[in-house]
Amino acid sequence: MRRTMLGNTGLEVGVAGLGCGGSSRLGTATGRSAAESIALVRRAIDLGVTLLDTAEAYGTEEIVGQAAAAAGRDSLVISTKSRIRREGRLLSAEDIVANLEASLRRLATDRVEVFHFHGIPPADYAHVRDNLVPALLREKEKGKLRHLGITETGPNDPRHEMLSAGLHDGIWEVVMLAFHMMNQNARHSVFPLTLEKGVGTLLMFVVRRIFSDPDYLREIFTTLAAEGRIPADLATAAEPLGFLVHEAGGADDVIDAAYRYAAHTAGTDVVLFGTGSIAHLERNIASILKPALPARDVARLEDLFGALEGVGLDLPRGFKKA
Ligand SMILES: NC(=O)c1ccc[n+]([C@@H]2O[C@H](COP(=O)([O-])OP(=O)(O)OC[C@H]3O[C@@H](n4cnc5c(N)ncnc54)[C@H](OP(=O)(O)O)[C@@H]3O)[C@@H](O)[C@H]2O)c1
Repeated sequence: MRRTMLGNTGLEVGVAGLGCGGSSRLGTATGRSAAESIALVRRAIDLGVTLLDTAEAYGTEEIVGQAAAAAGRDSLVISTKSRIRREGRLLSAEDIVANLEASLRRLATDRVEVFHFHGIPPADYAHVRDNLVPALLREKEKGKLRHLGITETGPNDPRHEMLSAGLHDGIWEVVMLAFHMMNQNARHSVFPLTLEKGVGTLLMFVVRRIFSDPDYLREIFTTLAAEGRIPADLATAAEPLGFLVHEAGGADDVIDAAYRYAAHTAGTDVVLFGTGSIAHLERNIASILKPALPARDVARLEDLFGALEGVGLDLPRGFKKA
């Protein structure tokens, strides 16, 4: 595993991080047993993954806790999250501290390395900063969390407005953002700030549905071409991203290209990948560890899609847009 520093946290982590949410939720969303999901996390750890990203909302904290305990908790970086609304109502500082305690219980641990506010839309940011952060900083003093993080909501904040503003507050040690081959705008709005301020970055949405469902990808190309946002001939090509797949350092397939593009973008610390399949897990880690895509292919991706916004930022199956 290639390792990197997570911003200025002092944590050295594997660049491939296991996402325990998304559509698969370690396979719990697709009928796997808890034992199979634990085995999947153990396989990731065996392959050098050190960062495990979970959340109260994913229902996978117990699984992560059991796998981490068996594999050696101290070598791992656990990242978890609390939402800030329940049934539409904003949560109080006391509620968030109770959520942190509940996460620690489910994870069967006495601290997490990163605790995030989960999926914060721009309109809720001031409540987080002014009313919730002070309480979590007190919990940090007690050692319950090592670093404070925040994650954006890709589908509701495609321009990264929350992070572009919030990163100036000097509060956040780690942020999670939506980034992929056809949603690259963080290169201009987020990464310059995280790099300047030494904030760690965790990338989500790198494959999601857009690059794991070929029919859906074709649908997206058809819509983008109809809207005049990409050249029309791309939408009629048999494989719209086929130019990335070739010998001489090119990608094996679209998913391989997606992970390699994200892993080698300046500003990326950790690429999160979510799966319920050990075969996918092994392939994804291998992709993240491969060299960058050829410079010519990266230039073409950035030329074709650099100006797109809000593409492929779907919610997991069964969730509704805010
Ligand atoms: N706001 C937030 O805080 C937030 C939002 C979203 C995600 N996240 C985090 O980011 C992590 C990444 O998740 P993501 O949902 O954004 O997207 P992702 O991990 O990029 O997407 C994974 C999807 O692609 C499939 N897949 C993965 N590898 C594959 C392969 N090699 N071949 C074919 N299909 C493959 C998976 O299904 P299979 O099970 O079939 O492999 C899954 O449906 C989440 O787990 C979570 O930790 C956080």
